Amino acid sequence: MSLLSRLRARIATEGPIPFEEFMRAALYDIEGGFFAAAETIRSVRSGDFLTSPEVSDAFGAALARFVAREGERIGTSPVVVEIGAGSGSLLRSLLDTVEVPVTAWAVEVSAAARQVLADRIPEARVVADLADVAAPFAGVVIANELVDNLPMAIAQMTDRGWRERWVGADEGGLVLVDAPVRPEVARWLDRYAGAVPEGGMVECQLEAAEWLRRVLGMVSVGAVVVIDYGDTAENLLPRRQDGTLRTYRAHHLGPHPLDEPGATDITADVNFTALVDVARGAGAEVELWRQDDFLADLGVRDELTSLRRRELEAARAGDEMQRLRLRSRRTEIETLLHPRGLGDFRVLVARR
Ligand SMILES: C[S@@+](CC[C@H](N)C(=O)[O-])C[C@H]1O[C@@H](n2cnc3c(N)ncnc32)[C@H](O)[C@@H]1O
Repeated sequence: MSLLSRLRARIATEGPIPFEEFMRAALYDIEGGFFAAAETIRSVRSGDFLTSPEVSDAFGAALARFVAREGERIGTSPVVVEIGAGSGSLLRSLLDTVEVPVTAWAVEVSAAARQVLADRIPEARVVADLADVAAPFAGVVIANELVDNLPMAIAQMTDRGWRERWVGADEGGLVLVDAPVRPEVARWLDRYAGAVPEGGMVECQLEAAEWLRRVLGMVSVGAVVVIDYGDTAENLLPRRQDGTLRTYRAHHLGPHPLDEPGATDITADVNFTALVDVARGAGAEVELWRQDDFLADLGVRDELTSLRRRELEAARAGDEMQRLRLRSRRTEIETLLHPRGLGDFRVLVARR
């Protein structure tokens, strides 16, 4: 039975379900979920979205420098855990360039991706679940474009105040239906939604908060690095009229999230203010960067300057092949730093 049919059957017996339960099924159902059931890897050039480590190995190399700095700070050789490791591009380039000894883990929900990870990164332990990672450990956890997929509730500001949007069904398919706001959702909205106008939609990222609390609890000393699209609660406010929930398929915005469960990525901008609060609440020291600034701090802009100079030298020397190679590398790095693209991602660093 298809995931859509199973969801319809469930709703027919139980009634409407909270949006986060729908999203959990659509992304993580073992038989029909977009990630868990995928037979291919979603985050590669031919896949559904292109992430920073797929654009350039300069991203993993920069994180390798971050890991080395952390190793120095904590005074031990760090454990590196990547959660949602995808095709392994980040971990591969990190391990290829890191200048301190590390022990690596890759956590990945997709069995197809785990197979690729095991082949591509034989020195890493590849596991399906966070619970499989030996903890507590001293080191660095990295999650790039993971938190935006963690299941979330949806609320809408109405003339009666906040209401939730749950998932029901009619003859045509799945539909959003009105539901009262649950107390934990109301508490999250009070703290992180801001002054949303009537009609405005907010994605309540309670599971992301729980995830970060759990991850921080696994790190005895070291850092958790969360990289994703999103912003502070305040800066997200102008995006609230329609909300930020969306789907991706084959590098383009996809259909409505309810239309083809299991066939599209469902995602929303990450509310980093909520994550900063969780990290501070767990006693961590927190930095919130833009990706372009974070990478610049790790030397990526210096590499760009050096590439420009070498490109010029190659042009003067008439070495066209070398000039093209250098230009291609420069273009990749410029993509990572693009102020309205990947450079506009946020990087939360929580240290303890
Ligand atoms: C957008 S891709 C990013 C992959 C990789 N981090 C990168 O930057 O290229 C998200 C990856 O996280 C995996 N994933 C999603 N939710 C997960 C979870 N809760 N635990 C572990 N892996 C997860 C997906 O299967 C997918 O491979």
